[in-house]
Amino acid sequence: MGTSRLFHIFVILGSAFMILLIIIYWDDVGTSHLYLHTPVSPGPKTPHLPPQQKPQTSRTPSFLSDIDAFVNQFLEPGTGEPTDPAPADASNQSEKAEERYVPRREWKIHLTPVAPELVERQEQRRRLLREMCANDSVVFPGKNRSFDDIPNKELDHLIVDDRHGIIYCYVPKVACSNWKRIMIVLSERMLQDGVPQRDPLAIPTDLVHNSSMHFTFNKFWKRYSKFARHLMKVKLKKYTKFLFVRDPFVRLISAYRNKFEQRNEDFYRRFAQVMLRRYANQPTPPASADEALAVGVHPLFSHFVQYLLDPQTEKDMPFNEHWRQVYRLCHPCQIQYDFVGHLETVEEDAEQLLRQLRVDNVVEFPASQRNLTASSWETDWFSTVPLEARRELYKLYEPDFRLFGYERPESILNE
Ligand SMILES: *[C@@H]1O[C@H](CO)[C@@H](O)[C@H](O)[C@H]1NC(C)=O
Ligand SMILES: *[C@@H]1O[C@H](CO)[C@@H](O)[C@H](O)[C@H]1NC(C)=O
Ligand SMILES: *[C@@H]1O[C@H](CO)[C@@H](O)[C@H](O)[C@H]1NC(C)=O
Ligand SMILES: *[C@@H]1O[C@H](CO)[C@@H](O)[C@H](O)[C@H]1NC(C)=O
Ligand SMILES: *[C@@H]1O[C@H](CO)[C@@H](O)[C@H](O)[C@H]1NC(C)=O
Repeated sequence: MGTSRLFHIFVILGSAFMILLIIIYWDDVGTSHLYLHTPVSPGPKTPHLPPQQKPQTSRTPSFLSDIDAFVNQFLEPGTGEPTDPAPADASNQSEKAEERYVPRREWKIHLTPVAPELVERQEQRRRLLREMCANDSVVFPGKNRSFDDIPNKELDHLIVDDRHGIIYCYVPKVACSNWKRIMIVLSERMLQDGVPQRDPLAIPTDLVHNSSMHFTFNKFWKRYSKFARHLMKVKLKKYTKFLFVRDPFVRLISAYRNKFEQRNEDFYRRFAQVMLRRYANQPTPPASADEALAVGVHPLFSHFVQYLLDPQTEKDMPFNEHWRQVYRLCHPCQIQYDFVGHLETVEEDAEQLLRQLRVDNVVEFPASQRNLTASSWETDWFSTVPLEARRELYKLYEPDFRLFGYERPESILNE
């Protein structure tokens, strides 16, 4: 008698608890997550709410929407040739407003395949990476470790977009603002009047670089706790991973011009003052960037190179991301990138990549209006740097040169 009554009580308590749970979560189940159960045919499903209801979804725990996006990813009808025909019933795109936010379903139809030389170029860049990672004569710290051994904080440059299954490793000074803008547009993280912002250039610069706008790998731990590494690995396997690189020396010139030739209070205090004190014989440099500008004081490019070569620099803290080597930011031997873009060919690469990602109907890569650092200036810039320092600097960045197929700059290193 005792055990059966106990059993009854358990059943009743259990039912009550379930009912309570259903009541608590009914709202969420009823509103934003219906789409988990909608059919997976490639037709115009409505995975999202119409825009006017959008604000309501903010109440759902964000991990749910991630998991949804994640599950949807597996249900995607493949990522075959971008030239295959679009689903027939997606032809009238203006029929339902909400369909505009279902980019994957309505990819652009291309009548011509991607040019064979572009396909071949990507193949070459990826092959080179594989070869260099396997070649024991290319040595750099961390090369041999496994993905699991990379600390969480070193995964902070990998931006994930679950909606389209994209992972972007951003490298500062390599068109990274523009690609971050595109990632914000694709992930629909920025709402404008309740509707996702679709114009990359309309996103204010301070938001572009605000880490709260990007879902990066180092945030997985907080969201998925012990499943974090596992999920990262699943996503790395399933998603399309890309990065953009440029000539490492030209990247350094660009970083110097951007951070030390232009007024930048933060970089002045954190780095320029140190350089002035250590290498420019200025024990008491101007207190602020404005004062320094007024008296025309700033560290020279050769001071910047000295700073990079000084062993004390890395002892104080790891290289700032603007001059940290790409191999340290993006772990190209642990992550098999599907697309390696070069800034030198950014326009062609961007077009090819957006098409490969099947989002070329959603975003366009913004044309750059800025005064780009040209490779041809390299010789001039390095003429003020002693030959020995140039060679040391090359050693520091040699893995980046070799991994990404940039020639050793003989003219700079030999004379
Ligand atoms: C698409 O839908 C709109 C509005 O429903 C209609 O006016 C238009 O004629 C349709 N276009 C085509 C090509 O069917
Ligand atoms: C590894 O790199 C060296 C150059 O540093 C090259 O001579 C060698 O052929 C490469 N090995 C392989 C297996 O590609
Ligand atoms: C990585 O492993 C290779 C042999 O597989 C070894 O020659 C090399 O020294 C190792 N590099 C580092 C940085 O540990
Ligand atoms: C980033 O954005 C969040 C909210 O959008 C804001 O609270 C925070 O102050 C911003 N951080 C910076 C450094 O601007
Ligand atoms: C670009 O920058 C270089 C050097 O910083 C300068 O000489 C040149 O005039 C600039 N060009 C434009 C169009 O601003």
